[in-house]
Amino acid sequence: MAEHYFTRRPTSRKRLGLVRCRLRGREFEFFTSSGVFSSRRIDNGSRLLIESMALPERGVVLDIGCGYGPVGIVAAKLWPGLEVWMTDVNERAVKLADRNALRNGVENVVVKQGDLYEPVGERVFDAILSNPPISAGFERVVEPLVSGAWDRLVDGGSLQLVVQTNKGGRALASLVEGRFGALEVTARGGGFRVLRAVRC
Ligand SMILES: C[S@@+](CC[C@H](N)C(=O)[O-])C[C@H]1O[C@@H](n2cnc3c(N)ncnc32)[C@H](O)[C@@H]1O
Repeated sequence: MAEHYFTRRPTSRKRLGLVRCRLRGREFEFFTSSGVFSSRRIDNGSRLLIESMALPERGVVLDIGCGYGPVGIVAAKLWPGLEVWMTDVNERAVKLADRNALRNGVENVVVKQGDLYEPVGERVFDAILSNPPISAGFERVVEPLVSGAWDRLVDGGSLQLVVQTNKGGRALASLVEGRFGALEVTARGGGFRVLRAVRC
């Protein structure tokens, strides 16, 4: 069976890489590997989410589907008063995210492996960030990710998602609007858009 980036336990030979990049005006380095999402460079959608995400100074934030960690690690670096949870189903990605937190000098992160919200238990968050795994299946993964966000946000907490406009963009927007009642597009570029919805 073909191995996807969202395989729980990748078996492909590990080919490690290092991505150096400038995000929100700061330099970062990320170890990457074969078998994880966008291993050669920061994905353009993730970059748009990173450059546009708006977070509170204090509180707890979740990066769900963290991959090797760019979204959550930049959030933790820029907002040192936050505790940032980072979760992913892919064990190889989670190990890299842990290592990358150390590499970039962030200690205000908690990295966990598991399916969707299972690793966070009953916790609630001030914001949930994701570049959701559209290829993993809309009904199986994306719908529960969006519905579950409503249940795991505090009142006033936000869901911030990036999506490729021509790859599930419309379906994701109507899903978010259906669950949250309203949404805004906070950034656009390169065929991607960032959607933001607030629980209120
Ligand atoms: C589009 S990638 C984004 C990765 C990372 N945030 C980035 O920006 O490079 C989506 C991530 O969701 C993860 N994923 C897929 N299905 C999942 C599930 N059921 N639960 C948690 N994470 C999942 C994949 O392994 C992948 O790392």
